[in-house]
Amino acid sequence: MGIVHVPVMREEVLENLALKESGIYVDATLGPGGHAEGILQNAGKCVLIGIDRDDEALTLAGERLKKYDNIHLIRDSFSNIKSVVSGLGYSEVDGILLDLGFSTLQMKSDNRGFSFLKDEPLDMRMDRRQELTAETIVNTYHWQKLADIIWKYGEERKSRRIARAIIYAREKKKIHSCRELALIIEKSIGRKQRIHPATRTFQALRIEVNRELEQVDTVINEGADILRKKGRICILAYHSLEDRIVKNAYKKLAQQGLFNIITKKPLIPRREEQRANPSSRSAKLRVAEKI
Ligand SMILES: C[S@@+](CC[C@H](N)C(=O)[O-])C[C@H]1O[C@@H](n2cnc3c(N)ncnc32)[C@H](O)[C@@H]1O
Repeated sequence: MGIVHVPVMREEVLENLALKESGIYVDATLGPGGHAEGILQNAGKCVLIGIDRDDEALTLAGERLKKYDNIHLIRDSFSNIKSVVSGLGYSEVDGILLDLGFSTLQMKSDNRGFSFLKDEPLDMRMDRRQELTAETIVNTYHWQKLADIIWKYGEERKSRRIARAIIYAREKKKIHSCRELALIIEKSIGRKQRIHPATRTFQALRIEVNRELEQVDTVINEGADILRKKGRICILAYHSLEDRIVKNAYKKLAQQGLFNIITKKPLIPRREEQRANPSSRSAKLRVAEKI
């Protein structure tokens, strides 16, 4: 496919997982397998459990990691981490990694509907077995609900104006493609900002389609149950909503005496990485250790 996804904060992640040669590690957002490959290269005898709900990501990761035989690649949601791990016959693991959000692969590959630059159906499903798509949301949600989603998940100040423009447009003709929607947004709020005017609305729709935020708290709590003593959880978040959930979940588990928070402040990518890979700029890495 020729699309390269560069693993974000690769060195910081590998160091903070405190890898043990024969540990059991879960990469719960496998994607094209960049971080997973790093884990396997640095802990040669480890077992790697890779989870992703995207079939395309699993195929690519499978190809990339085919020379390793101590791996299990599972199509599931990370909110089922506990049952995935126990289903494979393990009761505890030494480390868990989550690199939240979506990958360059999903953004750039054709007919996934994540990019406002493409003239393709508004899809945005990570798991293509599910029914809800961005097209359904855009064409059927009540305007108030649309405005709320764009405001809450996109942190878009002009959410009401955008929602009204969507309703107005869809009354005339069903909205099918990413580019059509991007143009409706651009017409309604102009192009004055540094980022493309559709950026925040597309983020909001992606989060709603994939129920992204609801699952983060679950995976941290289930993860805490299956981490071995001194096992680490590393989470990379890319926007403040996700990062806040991670921060609060760690804090709660620390108050219960289950977690020691390793990163009092989140780690961020070094300047060279931010320059080389601009999509790493918003990354925040938070690490905790099971007590
Ligand atoms: C940023 S990418 C991971 C990239 C990977 N760390 C690498 O270096 O190649 C995030 C991946 O997480 C997956 N994902 C997001 N939410 C998920 C969920 N709830 N359950 C399972 N996978 C999920 C996406 O499909 C995507 O492939």
